[in-house]
Amino acid sequence: MKHKGRFGNFGGFYVPEVLIPALEDIETGFDKYRNDRRFVEELDDLYRNYAGRPTPLYHARRFSEHVGFEVYIKREDLLHGGAHKVNNALGQGLLAKYMGKKKLIAETGAGQHGLATSMIGALFGMETKIFMGSVDVARQNVNVHKMKLCGAEVISVSGGTCTLKDAINDALRYWTSHIDDTFYLFGTAGGPHPFPTIVRHFQTPIGTEARQQCLDQIGRLPDKVVACVGGGSNAIGIFSGFIDDADVELIGVEGGGKGTETHEHCATLVKGSVGVLHGAQTYVLQDENGQIHETECISAGLDYPGVGPEHAYLKDSGRAVYTAVTDEQVLDVFELFTRSEGILPALESSHALAYLVKQKGKLPKDAIVVVNLSGRGDKDVSIVEQHRPML
Ligand SMILES: Cc1ncc(COP(=O)(O)O)c(C=O)c1O
Repeated sequence: MKHKGRFGNFGGFYVPEVLIPALEDIETGFDKYRNDRRFVEELDDLYRNYAGRPTPLYHARRFSEHVGFEVYIKREDLLHGGAHKVNNALGQGLLAKYMGKKKLIAETGAGQHGLATSMIGALFGMETKIFMGSVDVARQNVNVHKMKLCGAEVISVSGGTCTLKDAINDALRYWTSHIDDTFYLFGTAGGPHPFPTIVRHFQTPIGTEARQQCLDQIGRLPDKVVACVGGGSNAIGIFSGFIDDADVELIGVEGGGKGTETHEHCATLVKGSVGVLHGAQTYVLQDENGQIHETECISAGLDYPGVGPEHAYLKDSGRAVYTAVTDEQVLDVFELFTRSEGILPALESSHALAYLVKQKGKLPKDAIVVVNLSGRGDKDVSIVEQHRPML
């Protein structure tokens, strides 16, 4: 698998020797089942009847009036569990089942991937352990309770910044001594090969559906497709549907952190440099000695100093553009969007919406912009309340 899993110069699998057989095992399983008729039919049934696919494409008319162009929302927030994470968790969970694995582990930041994996663990009767930074355990504790209710064990990780990066470190460390019976259900389009390819595959229904819905409902493709980027799975899911449509601009929005400008230690693709993190060559927030910076972003799901290697490639090739918004802009749009549409966006997804507000006055009235609403904001209500108590 030497040259596999490369996106231009990015990707690869920079992992301890002991993990290579486990990654090869997953790659072999994926290649065997991804087009297997029984597997595809079972997954399709689960997507429809368990998760709630296809998700609607909704014309957000009042929000459109505010920004001055036409905004359509891909409603991944309506999926079971409240986010796009269930697409990947179902795909990899089913793969684990077909491969005869009995135990799942996963990392989580916002808790949405941890919750999705816990749901799938319950669904397939698999023992499930979720690694989560202690800072995230505190700020996303509604999801922690839900994971436990599904029967998962939540392991609070207290190394480093106690966030997603540290949860991945501990999950990988645990996996090195449990590869025989445990499937690492990786949550984003990052990490070592084959995860970026597998996660992208299971998130492609977002883009496939959105493209067809644009043609059916609007009669043409959009001018821009916008998604937030943490590790990059919801963004690559929706981008994948439009990547071959050269006239459709693809825009990824990262967390810029506190203050009025993007913080130096936030927004990996905007501020980072090329390095290796969690098994992949990609953009990384690091100092001149390669030490990883501590990130601080209001949304746990975007609080990560790395990014999926395909996004690094799309940035360098110019096919996608990456930008960042600040915590304050995110809180502003959370309020605006909720009040204009009656839909609570996840703080992660609010980053994509905040970018639209920044485009006010810059796009023609008839411009069409599709936003991936990757998740719902119920988990974030108390964080918003802390920052905007008058709301
Ligand atoms: C609702 C939501 N959106 C986006 C993300 C960011 O992840 P990704 O970039 O893999 O889509 C998360 C991560 O937890 C999330 O919960």
